[in-house]
Amino acid sequence: MKLSERMTRLGTESAFKVLAQAQALEAKGMDVIHLEIGEPDFITPKNVCDAATKALGEGYTHYCNSQGIAPLRAEIAKEMEKTRGVSVDPERVIVTPGAKPIVFYSILALLEKGDEAIYPDPLYPIYESMINFTGAKAVPIPLREELDFRFDVDELKSKVTPRTKLIIVNSPHNPTGGMLEKDDIRFIADIAREYNITVLSDEVYEDIIYEGEHYSIASLPSMLDRTILLSGFSKTYAMTGWRLGYAVMPPELIEPVVRLIVNSVSCTPPFIQHAGIEALNGPQDSVSKMVNEFKKRRDLIVEGLNQIPGISCLRPKGAFYVFPNIKKLGVDCERLADYLLNEAGVATLPGTHFGKYGKGHLRLSYATSLENIKKALERISTIVAKIAA
Ligand SMILES: Cc1ncc(COP(=O)(O)O)c(C=O)c1O
Repeated sequence: MKLSERMTRLGTESAFKVLAQAQALEAKGMDVIHLEIGEPDFITPKNVCDAATKALGEGYTHYCNSQGIAPLRAEIAKEMEKTRGVSVDPERVIVTPGAKPIVFYSILALLEKGDEAIYPDPLYPIYESMINFTGAKAVPIPLREELDFRFDVDELKSKVTPRTKLIIVNSPHNPTGGMLEKDDIRFIADIAREYNITVLSDEVYEDIIYEGEHYSIASLPSMLDRTILLSGFSKTYAMTGWRLGYAVMPPELIEPVVRLIVNSVSCTPPFIQHAGIEALNGPQDSVSKMVNEFKKRRDLIVEGLNQIPGISCLRPKGAFYVFPNIKKLGVDCERLADYLLNEAGVATLPGTHFGKYGKGHLRLSYATSLENIKKALERISTIVAKIAA
């Protein structure tokens, strides 16, 4: 069978591949600590599960509005007003099965050969995969470790050309846990206005923040009309398996993106959307409990990694990842990740799976218990001592 040429340009997300490798080792009896997959290990709050069950019982089990059911879109619009101070018409809201399809649909709707898209590197790999898929030019802007994994503003400006159509922003950031500052966001907004560029602002980790505040580019003057604001329920409410995400988009993008939904999944299951309404409206204490727990884990993993000779690790302000620098170990990050998995039963991801500027790093997700983190640190320390010997 000969596949289409475009398939050669579509990348992937290696966390799922490493998860499968780790599970294969577990099936052979190995004890593996999972630091590879990016999902909260908490259970979805009970009130949200109950809302889904109730909706199933009430018969919300059929096709529904492809753009998302009206009451959920109204809740999301209210949430935008509450969290970002922007007044959003629910007609600008689109609900999808997970937040990931928003990246897929909006990039497909916007970009083509001849266009350029700027994105942070290291990055959530789906951005680059999708830009390449459309035939547009992928233009990485390096996130600098010495800037707490932020970008250099002059460097960003130097990447803008008359063909730049899209800038992708992701804060808090996967894979580094870094956060952009208000001035960084303002700078991007100024560029977007001056050069008439659309911004895809991936804010899926907006509620998982330990220091500082979340700034949404959409709340800056006139930015709502040029921003695709992506967020969702997967991370905030530990709902990764439910597949529920959303975006607020400029009106011109709504019809084409809904058309892509109709051509692919038709709609997002309505009983899941009812659970989403409860997640937004119900008590939020599970979110703060989860974030407090993540903070303890972050502190433990950052301190532990910094005590291992040859490894240095910044203290991230958000999300649930660390991105330690392993360059002084003198071993390639892909080899180290392989070695850690196969010899020590610690599943991590090499930084290069998040773009070329991830070289010399590992990504560790600390969405696992303090006990597992302690065990993982001991195992990493033993392997590093072996490498040094
Ligand atoms: C930066 C970023 N954006 C989007 C997503 C997609 O989220 P969802 O699971 O809701 O599709 C992820 C998931 O890991 C992510 O890390």
